[in-house]
Amino acid sequence: MKDISYWMDTCKEKQFPPFSGEIKCEAVIIGGGLTGITTALLLSLRGMDVILLEADRLGSGTTGNTTAKITVQHGLCFSHLAREKALAYAKVNRAGLSKIESLVKEYNIDCDFCRLPSYVYTRNGSETDDIEKEAHAYQELGISGETVSSAPLPFEIKSAVVMDDQAQFHPLKYLYALADIIGENGGVIYEQSKVVDIEKGEKNIVYTNNGNVTADIVILATNYPPIDFPGLFFIKLHQERSYIISTDAKKTDVRGMYINAGNPVNSIRMHYGKGENQLLLGGYGHKTAYENEKKSGYSNLEDFLHTDFKRADDKANHRWAAQDCVTLDGLPYIGTISKTNPNIFVATGYAKWGMTNSAAAAMIIEDCVTGSNNIEEQARAFFSPSRFTPAASAKNFLIQSGDTLKEFTAGNVKIPIGDYDDISPGKGAVLRINGRAQAVYKDESGRIYTFKARCTHLGCPLEYNEAEKSFDCPCHGSRFSYLGKVIEGPAKQGLEKVAAEDEDF
Ligand code: FES
Repeated sequence: MKDISYWMDTCKEKQFPPFSGEIKCEAVIIGGGLTGITTALLLSLRGMDVILLEADRLGSGTTGNTTAKITVQHGLCFSHLAREKALAYAKVNRAGLSKIESLVKEYNIDCDFCRLPSYVYTRNGSETDDIEKEAHAYQELGISGETVSSAPLPFEIKSAVVMDDQAQFHPLKYLYALADIIGENGGVIYEQSKVVDIEKGEKNIVYTNNGNVTADIVILATNYPPIDFPGLFFIKLHQERSYIISTDAKKTDVRGMYINAGNPVNSIRMHYGKGENQLLLGGYGHKTAYENEKKSGYSNLEDFLHTDFKRADDKANHRWAAQDCVTLDGLPYIGTISKTNPNIFVATGYAKWGMTNSAAAAMIIEDCVTGSNNIEEQARAFFSPSRFTPAASAKNFLIQSGDTLKEFTAGNVKIPIGDYDDISPGKGAVLRINGRAQAVYKDESGRIYTFKARCTHLGCPLEYNEAEKSFDCPCHGSRFSYLGKVIEGPAKQGLEKVAAEDEDF
């Protein structure tokens, strides 16, 4: 079994050079996932001079670690949104799905794209009302769908709401094909080019670790926006992790994409590629750094395969995890970052539904920048990053800010006292050693890596993530490798090493 996504392992990686020097362009896009690449493509097709900067490799973040369901059906979202919002959300996500399909067809992209139905199902009688409410919302909103009492799954269900004619693909094959088209249209992509600062103004200057780009327009297409101000995303977003395993499909063929209505969440889909068909099982998400300590998401998914799919002797061939941003009111933030910075755009907060949302975000940004009209202005307004939605946001705001406050005040107290000898080879921990809170990892040979156990974003105490051997921040979801390097932002700096002369901390 490989600790890498099925997508990354089955797609020949394309490489792009790192950025260096000083350059000017009309639009600089930060982030080489689906949002950034699709936006760069749409703007370059409009004749704009675009540069894309990716801190790591294209698709190495959420795009390369998704389940890649291209569906407008996002759990039971439509029955939870107010009518006008639900209409706008359905409209932009339908537009996103159509955009992906039209690009696949127009450029003849070989990415295993296929149309399939999408289901939200329940096995629990107490949730059938929720399914009915969602089906009712479909009727009210003019979304085509129906309820059913069975599905081609290897277990019984009580009911499901089905949305026909949704889609799925191989996200990296699609992403790399778009990257080629950007190049053919004069756009330039750089990898391993980390943005360290942005100077905002009439002309914006984006500073990287090896030079700077001056641009009229800046588009922040990283999962978590790389700047805190303006935007205040650290009080408006939280991050969640979820897990996925793939296994050869053998005789299993569920002929669709599925998610259950309740908790814990189980996501199911097939992948029909050129090689062996795959069964992908996902879910068991949690707020980053709040995982269940007793059992990892991966072992829960293997149990799901063994018991519910009746494949007791089978193993996963790949396993991976994805990190997603969630907004306060359930809709993504897409548009200008603030009224005072009209030339800086952001797209984030897809809450695990990033395929249609990322294409829609690219279309909204194209509209804002070029005056095109993919999505009408009235619908775009619901996604404004500076919107104020007190009723819909209050509960999540209290949870997010309460967790952050708790971590700031009590997080340090709960760090146990210990010693390096308490840690076995191949394991890590956050311990108070000699009075100093340390994030420690001991490799298989016994070599110890030790860092200050404080997140370099805003200073929250870190947690050790055993399943992924990382140090994760419970406040806003930054993650660091056991070598102290940033894996997920908003933190930009790696962890600080512990030096012998350090005072207690
Ligand atoms: Fe904000 Fe760690 S991510 S303090």
